[in-house]
Amino acid sequence: MDSLPDEEGKEFVFGESESKWPFRMFVVRRGSEVRGFVNSCPHLHLTLNYFPDRFVTRDKANILCANHGAVFNHDDGHCIAGPCAGQDLEPVPVVIEEGMIQIA
Ligand code: FES
Repeated sequence: MDSLPDEEGKEFVFGESESKWPFRMFVVRRGSEVRGFVNSCPHLHLTLNYFPDRFVTRDKANILCANHGAVFNHDDGHCIAGPCAGQDLEPVPVVIEEGMIQIA
């Protein structure tokens, strides 16, 4: 948790770096709440971020896909604006134990 600032996101990639399809996920934090999602936008299945760990809107209220501007609810990953409105990010359940974020 110490490496995840409040109202920011962080990406984690599992798998070989040369692998064509490593498992990419990200977490976003709001206070003591952390949510995890697969880093794949339901619009064109691209990763959401252009820059490392940039996953939130400018006002930090929601999650942003940098590709075409889709905006997702922070709590459940539901797309509330943009080209995939009504669709959802795929959740990755996470828990916090002793200050560590873990996949549940
Ligand atoms: S790929 Fe995310 S809005 Fe188009």
